[in-house]
Amino acid sequence: MSPRRACLTALVTLPGGALSAAGAQADGLAYPQGATSFQANCAVCHGANGAGLPSLAPPLLANPARYAASAEGRRQLAMTVLYGLFGDIAVDGHHYDFRMPDFSRLDDATLAATLNFVVFDLAHAPADLKPLSAADLATERAHPMDGAAVREHRKGVAPAGP
Ligand code: HEC
Repeated sequence: MSPRRACLTALVTLPGGALSAAGAQADGLAYPQGATSFQANCAVCHGANGAGLPSLAPPLLANPARYAASAEGRRQLAMTVLYGLFGDIAVDGHHYDFRMPDFSRLDDATLAATLNFVVFDLAHAPADLKPLSAADLATERAHPMDGAAVREHRKGVAPAGP
């Protein structure tokens, strides 16, 4: 691509909301469809770039990549979007004690793509880590629980908070 063409692309892409908010052009994202879903469903609380909102919701820039590296952590990601998360948690030394709503109305493939955008594009998990699949979401969907139970499970996978 010529420099002039690249410049035009940047100009056209930047106001694109979802994609520019994630700090990358469409073709720089590993999960552009997940980005679209994130902006529609998650950004209102977690911020367009996943940095969180101090009085509302935690950042998603580190823990999701940690979680994606273990089987129980991957279950944690699926549970959180399927069933929500209630009660006090600590992220990077800050406490949050709210209720994340559940997103079980979204289908498994959409939830997997949304989580993969969080894990790989926002939290920068290593690219060789296995992405979440729709089947992972379906497995967790078969075991309904509430947001308090999701918080209990989180204790086993999150870094110990202050
Ligand atoms: C209405 C606000 C809101 C929306 C919308 C929302 N969240 Fe949350 N999210 C929260 C809150 C609040 C917490 C912390 C809950 C607590 O205090 O127990 C949280 C926690 C999380 C966590 C756990 C972080 C950790 O360190 O364990 C993940 C992952 C997450 N959200 C992902 C998402 C994704 C993906 C979406 C979109 C599908 C989403 N959230 C939509 C409010 C929201």
